[in-house]
Amino acid sequence: MIYLDNSATTQPYPEVLESFQNASTQFFANPSSIHQLGGRTETLLTRAREQAAELLGVNKREIVFTSGGTEGNNLAIKGIALEHQNRGKHIITSQTEHPSVYEACQSLEKLGFKVTYLPVNEEGIVSLTELQKSIRKDTILISIMHVNNELGTIQPIEEIGEIAKEHPKLFFHVDYVQGLGKISLNFKKYGIDLCTMSGHKIHGLKGTGILYVGEGVTLHPLLHGGGQEEFYRSGTENLAGAVSLVKALRMSMENMKMNIDKITDLNNHLRQELGEIKGVIINTPLNGAPHLMNISVLGLKPEVIIHSLGEEHIFISTKSACSSKNNVESRVLTACGFSSERATTALRISMSYQTTEDDINTFLNIFKKIVNQLKLIME
Ligand SMILES: Cc1ncc(COP(=O)(O)O)c(C=O)c1O
Repeated sequence: MIYLDNSATTQPYPEVLESFQNASTQFFANPSSIHQLGGRTETLLTRAREQAAELLGVNKREIVFTSGGTEGNNLAIKGIALEHQNRGKHIITSQTEHPSVYEACQSLEKLGFKVTYLPVNEEGIVSLTELQKSIRKDTILISIMHVNNELGTIQPIEEIGEIAKEHPKLFFHVDYVQGLGKISLNFKKYGIDLCTMSGHKIHGLKGTGILYVGEGVTLHPLLHGGGQEEFYRSGTENLAGAVSLVKALRMSMENMKMNIDKITDLNNHLRQELGEIKGVIINTPLNGAPHLMNISVLGLKPEVIIHSLGEEHIFISTKSACSSKNNVESRVLTACGFSSERATTALRISMSYQTTEDDINTFLNIFKKIVNQLKLIME
């Protein structure tokens, strides 16, 4: 099997599964229980929080364990909007955000909030001038993603953070789900107030994630109840999830140090070889994320290519996993100004640190063969 759909989800590291199993077996008590078993579980949870904070270069009180990216984005955006609406009801985001940001903003419009969806250029990048122009007196939040899940475009987070810092009353949220473990972000230096991360994109488990909530930032909770996670996320804590997420985070960060050049080289190789195939357009910008490559194969239905590759045990995807079953134009590619044909024929190849040169070469050979065969049938 050659798995090249790592932006949809990754295979958990065996060590992650082991740490989940150990924590679930030995520390099953409720951390809120006042008996000794509860106390031990709470201590382990605190340790997991401290370790996550250390790995991310933040304070342990700034770590909120969540169920993943969708929850983190919703909590950040709706949490700021509901908590700070007396100050203003204007939010700035972009046209290419993940649905968990885009639709969270749309839902707030129904509650009377105003949202500016910033346009992007052909590479999927927002304009800093446009951003600056769109900030108003009543703007309370800027939410811009780091790495785009479809295209791999990297937004200028540091520069956006500089702009946000000039307006101390507004908050800056970053969806870091695709960038975590691939490209470092210094939350404090870049003026990020809230940052969303997801475990299953870094070889952790589904249902795990972290929302970084910077010191002094307050949110309206989405889940009320027992007051866990600083009252931001009530519900009995997923201790084994948190412990296994820290394991995945540590391993991904180590891999980033050791293997980032390897996947960057593989990505360059992919770009070179795919670019030479007639009818293939490379959509990912040259300085995009190292693990992701988006292409359009003009004239061929992407789902047919996916199924043909699947029969050879090679797995890639159309658009992003969340929208790949909707047979419509990619909102992201359309926002980049791509033609309808280009926006409906996109495929995404996404690697992990486990991807080898052999995997990529085998994929390329079979992909070329399939594309040629399909073209012959179409003629
Ligand atoms: C950029 C981005 N944000 C958010 C999410 C949602 O994350 P999760 O699947 O953990 O809810 C995804 C998942 O594809 C994503 O790619």
